[in-house]
Amino acid sequence: MAANEPQARGKKVLLAVCGGIAAYKACEVLRALQKAGCEVRACMTASAERFVGAPTFEALTRSAVCDDLFGNPETAIPHIDYAEWADLALVVPATANVMAKMAAGIADDSLTATLLACSCPVLVAPGMNVHMWRNPATQANVRTLQARGARFVLPVEGRLACGDVGEGKLADVEEIAAAALALLAEKAPEQDLVATRLLVTAGPTHEAIDPVRYIANSSTGKMGYAIAAAAARRGAEVTLVSGPTSLPCPEGVRRVDVVSAAQMHDAALAAFSASDAAVCTAAVADYTPARPADHKLKKAHEHLDRIELVETADILADLCARKDGRVVVGFAAETNDLIPNAQAKLRKKGADAIIANDVSRADSTFGSDTNRVAVVRADGVDQRETLPLADVADIVLDVVRDRLRRR
Ligand code: CTP
Repeated sequence: MAANEPQARGKKVLLAVCGGIAAYKACEVLRALQKAGCEVRACMTASAERFVGAPTFEALTRSAVCDDLFGNPETAIPHIDYAEWADLALVVPATANVMAKMAAGIADDSLTATLLACSCPVLVAPGMNVHMWRNPATQANVRTLQARGARFVLPVEGRLACGDVGEGKLADVEEIAAAALALLAEKAPEQDLVATRLLVTAGPTHEAIDPVRYIANSSTGKMGYAIAAAAARRGAEVTLVSGPTSLPCPEGVRRVDVVSAAQMHDAALAAFSASDAAVCTAAVADYTPARPADHKLKKAHEHLDRIELVETADILADLCARKDGRVVVGFAAETNDLIPNAQAKLRKKGADAIIANDVSRADSTFGSDTNRVAVVRADGVDQRETLPLADVADIVLDVVRDRLRRR
């Protein structure tokens, strides 16, 4: 990392130090940020101060450590003053407890109250025991915070202070400092979709065979949720019609939960009439059982080996048939003949563009955090490189925006 990075000079970082054994590494992160030109202040929990004393951070930052809602620093409202001062809040090490409080909006000490009052970007670097990290409650809190826009420098595998070996070790000091500087250098997203009403379909659908069995597919909904989140960041009013997923609703997005292809069809068509554009990422079941049973079928005598299927309505095609000046973009998940198949879908369904991805590749398959897409339009094909889902979302939204401007 280069010292005194121009974009970091004078930027104000609030270092939130929690009570984990890696608290001493927060001092090194602090020094790295100061070397890059940042001004740093600290807030600490009472547990953090059992690991490293507040005087250490006060000497390093030359400012009072915010560690008492009613007295330190000696300003009128310490947690509000520190929150408003910051350009970035950096939580190092983030404990399971503090992340749980952040996810729940609890503010029962000066550190959590300060974080709750922050309107600046928040970067979280967790560090904890492997079992605490892997606990579903912790993982759910991480997902909740991510959905609300918090960024993470995820922990790594290694030998932990408790003697366990596994994931949970605080990321390297250099990596945390670099992520903080990168976030400080990021520009606020362009508000180029303000007043655009966008419908997004996402996730799989479940088609009932009987009350306990259904036909589904491997879609996780990640791509659609990333598009909904990015559109909201760019100022759009987003309605996300979602099949069953385990993802939290992105900040600022209205979600309509559905289960079956028929429900998704009805919800999407209802939302479309009040939309300017639609992006269909959902992996909608193409067939559904003709007569779902109202009781659990018995395999011995109720023909579970022969389920009669009927075709579902094609939501994307039905939206295109009702376009009336709206913009509609679909996806094509293929394992072979990617571009010819996508071009055929473009023509058959009447979409403005089809985003084609090869789901046989590990970097663009269901559940991946990256995708490698080609934008297929009537006037040509634009193959893009493998990118994080948030960047792919912006590519798709650029297509929507450009198309809307040409109307
Ligand atoms: N789609 C839809 N409703 C359906 C099926 C598909 O809205 N009943 C949409 C998907 O959301 C996606 C696009 O159509 O945007 C392509 O989906 P895909 O399943 O790849 O295409 P199909 O038309 O089902 O064709 P095939 O299964 O033959 O590849």
